[in-house]
Amino acid sequence: MTAPVPSPAPVPALPSGVDPAWLPPAVFRPLGSRRTLIAGTGPLVDTVHGEVAGACDRFGGRVVRDAQEPGAPYDLVLELGEDDPNELGAEGFAVERAGGVTRVTAAGQRGLLYGLFHVVRLGEAVFQGELAREVHCPALSLRMLDHWDNVAVHPVMGQVERGYSGGSLFWQDGRARGSRAELERVRCYGRLLAASGINAVAVNNVNVHETEAHLLTARIGEVAAIADALRPYGIRTHLSVSFAAPVVLGGLPTADPLDEAVRDWWAEATGRVYAAIPDFGGYLVKADSEGQPGPFTYGRSHANGANVLAAALAPYGGTVHWRAFVYDHRQDWRDRSTDRARAAYDHFAPLDGEFGPNAVLQVKHGPIDFQTREPVSPVIGAMPNTRIAVEIQATQEYTGQQRHVCWLGPMWSEALRFRPEGADGPSVGDLARGGGLVAVSNTGDDPFWTGHPLAQANLYAVGRLAWRPDADPRAVLAEWIELTFVPEETPDPARLRSGLHAVLDGSWRTYEKYTAPLGVGFMVQPGHHYGPSVDGYEYSPWGTYHFADRDGIGVDRSQATGTGFTGQYAKPWAEVYESPETCPDELLLFFHHVPYGHVLHSGETVIQHIYDTHFDGVEEVEDARRVWAGLADLVDPARHARATERYEEQLRGAREWRDHINTYFFRKSGVPDARRRRIH
Ligand code: GCU
Repeated sequence: MTAPVPSPAPVPALPSGVDPAWLPPAVFRPLGSRRTLIAGTGPLVDTVHGEVAGACDRFGGRVVRDAQEPGAPYDLVLELGEDDPNELGAEGFAVERAGGVTRVTAAGQRGLLYGLFHVVRLGEAVFQGELAREVHCPALSLRMLDHWDNVAVHPVMGQVERGYSGGSLFWQDGRARGSRAELERVRCYGRLLAASGINAVAVNNVNVHETEAHLLTARIGEVAAIADALRPYGIRTHLSVSFAAPVVLGGLPTADPLDEAVRDWWAEATGRVYAAIPDFGGYLVKADSEGQPGPFTYGRSHANGANVLAAALAPYGGTVHWRAFVYDHRQDWRDRSTDRARAAYDHFAPLDGEFGPNAVLQVKHGPIDFQTREPVSPVIGAMPNTRIAVEIQATQEYTGQQRHVCWLGPMWSEALRFRPEGADGPSVGDLARGGGLVAVSNTGDDPFWTGHPLAQANLYAVGRLAWRPDADPRAVLAEWIELTFVPEETPDPARLRSGLHAVLDGSWRTYEKYTAPLGVGFMVQPGHHYGPSVDGYEYSPWGTYHFADRDGIGVDRSQATGTGFTGQYAKPWAEVYESPETCPDELLLFFHHVPYGHVLHSGETVIQHIYDTHFDGVEEVEDARRVWAGLADLVDPARHARATERYEEQLRGAREWRDHINTYFFRKSGVPDARRRRIH
C-alpha cells in the first residue's frame, strides 16, 4: 500500500480591496511557469506545496509532490531533509543550481518555507546559469512583531494603541474577529510576514487592561483561533499578560513572585494555555512601567518577576519577554537629579545573570522612547549574561504616524550595527542573538495594511533586518520595491525605481530635519504625539525635557557636570559622548546643554543649524511630493491616490513644525537667521 499523497494547503485569498503588499501575483510568475518537485512531509510543506500549486495554476507551470514522477525533468526542487541538520537548523536553507535545476534544501519545515520565499524574491535570476551552494540562516532566531492591539476599544487609546492603520486585525469591539473572512485576512497577514522572515507575533497590547487580562484564561480559545490562522506560515503566537494575573484572574491575595501559590497559579494557567495552543510562543510583560503592576509592589526584583513566568513556560519550550521599559513616569520636572535615560540601566544592569534561561529582556533600542534620533541604549551592551531582545517601533508614533513618509530602515540599521564596546566588540545585532528583534507593529485592518502605503517598507524591513541585522537597508528597500511595485511590468522601470528611492531613501533624515533638533527629542503634542509643541512635555511628569532657555538648549548627561548617563556606556562611547567636542552633532542635545552659538562639527552654530534644517526639511518634502506626483502613471492608482493624500498632510505638517520650531527658538534666543528668511 502506498502512503496517501499529501495535499497542498490552499493559499489564503486576499479579501477584496486589500493591497497585496510585497506578494502581488506577478512576483510568482517565474516560479509558477516552471516545473517543481516538492519533497517532504508536514503542514508547512503543505503550505509550500499550496504556494507553488497556486502559482502554477495562474502561470501554467506544474508541481509534483514527492516522487510521483521519478526522473521527470524539474526546474526547481524544494526538498526537506538534509544530511547535516545542524548546518541549516530549523529555519535555514541551502540553494544551488546545476544542470538546469535549482535546488532548495532545508532541514526544517520553516527553512523550506523561507527557501520558497527566497526563490520568489530572486525571480528569474534563480533559474539562470549555475549557482554554487549558498547557505542562508537567520542571524536571530526570534523575529517578532508586537501588536499593541486592545481587545476592547480603550477610551483614550482606541482599538490599537499608537495604531495608525485602522482597527485591529485580531480584535474588534471586545471580541476576537472570528468570521471566516476575518481569519482569512489573518492568514494573509501571516503569509506576508513569513515572506519577510517574521516568525512570532504577540497579539495584544503590552498595557493589559481588564478585558485583555482574561485572554490568558477564560478567553484563551480566542487566542488559539488566531494561532491556528498564523501557524501554517510558521508564526508562533505570544500573549501579553498582566503581572497581577494571579490576583486579578486567580483571586489570590498576592502576585508576589516568590509566593508558592503564585508560582503554582502560573504553572497551572500556563498548562492550560499549552493545552489550547501547543506551540504557544510565550508571554510578554510590561511590569512596573507606566502604571502596569510588577514585582516592585512586593519588594522583589524584576529577575524574580520574570523567573516565575519563565519557570511556568519552561516545560513547554516557551519564553517570557520581559520589557526593560521601567522608569519614573511621575517625575517632578523640577527634580534635576532624576534622568529618565538612566532608568533602564539602573534597574536592570545589576540583575545581569539572574534571569532564567528562557527569560529574555526586551530593551527599546534607545534609552528614552522611540524618538527620531536617540543613541543606542547602554543596557544592550551591559548584560552579557542575559538574553537580550532589541525592541524597535514600526508604528510611527514619533515619526509621523504613517501620515508622513519616514523609511526607518536606516535608523534601525544604524542601531543594529552599533558596537557598544567599539570597533572590536560585538554589534547590537550580535548581542540580540539570544533574544531577537522585536518591532511594535504598524499594521491594522486598513486596506493597505499600514495606512500609508509606503509604510509597508518599514514592516518589510523588520523581518529582513531580523534575518540579517547587518544587511544594507538600501538593499532591503530595493528588494521591497522590486516585489511590491514589480518595476519590470511597468513601462518605465528605471523611473519607477529611482523615484521610489528618491522619496524613501532619505525620508528619515528629512523628518528629523523638520522636527526636534540634534537628538533632543519630544517637542510633540502631549497625549497623541502628533505635530509640534515645543514645551508640550517640558513641565510634565514624564521625564522628557529639553531645558531650552534664552541662552541654550539640551540635557547635560555628562559625568562631569550632568546626570552621569554617559558613564553607563563602555569605552569608547563613554568618552565620545562625554564631551561636546567629540559627541556626534546629531546627538549633541541628547547629551549636552549648549549655548545657541555653539559651533557644530558641521561648522554651523546650533541656532543656525535649527533654522537651516527646518527650511531644508520642508523643501525636501516639497520635492518628494513632486517626485511622487510624477510616478502617477507607473503606480497602482489606489496606492498612488492614498499616498498623494498623505503627502498633502505631510507638507502641511512639515511647515507647521518648521514654523513652530524656528519661531520658538528665534523668540527664545533673539538670534536672527543669517539668511534672513521669514520666521514668524
Ligand atoms: C510609549 C507609548 C505608550 C506605550 C509605551 C510602551 O510611551 O507612548 O503608548 O505604552 O511606549 O512602550 O509601553
